[in-house]
Amino acid sequence: MEQITTTDEVPENGSFLFTVTEPSGREEEVILVSAADGIAAWKNFCMHEPDQRLDRGIEGGAAMRDGEIICPRHGSMFDAATGYCDNGDARGQTLVEVDIAVRHGTIFLTDDALEFQHVGGIDEDDGLPDSTSHIGF
Ligand code: FES
Repeated sequence: MEQITTTDEVPENGSFLFTVTEPSGREEEVILVSAADGIAAWKNFCMHEPDQRLDRGIEGGAAMRDGEIICPRHGSMFDAATGYCDNGDARGQTLVEVDIAVRHGTIFLTDDALEFQHVGGIDEDDGLPDSTSHIGF
């Protein structure tokens, strides 16, 4: 189990962003949100257009209202506790869940398929094929 953060770092209305590595080696972003039944973790993309981040790395994270995460692109709202969307373009779809555990106020990544990388979003400067600045890194 890898430690992600503490519960008091997860905003009441918003999200806490971190980065994991998939089994394929690809990096992916995950958000922690406050839900009615505790903290939930979802992969940070919309089910309508997977290129669309819910948390765009701005202060406070994803937009939320009344326990729902609002997609910034077309406004579909996902239940923060279940990940389910019953409205708009993503209707009928559910966010991709990430397994976490909360122990004494500390949040751990328990998803066997994922490896914790760092707090915050994917570093977009990493591995750009046209960049020479990392040669000899
Ligand atoms: S991209 Fe999220 S609702 Fe369309």
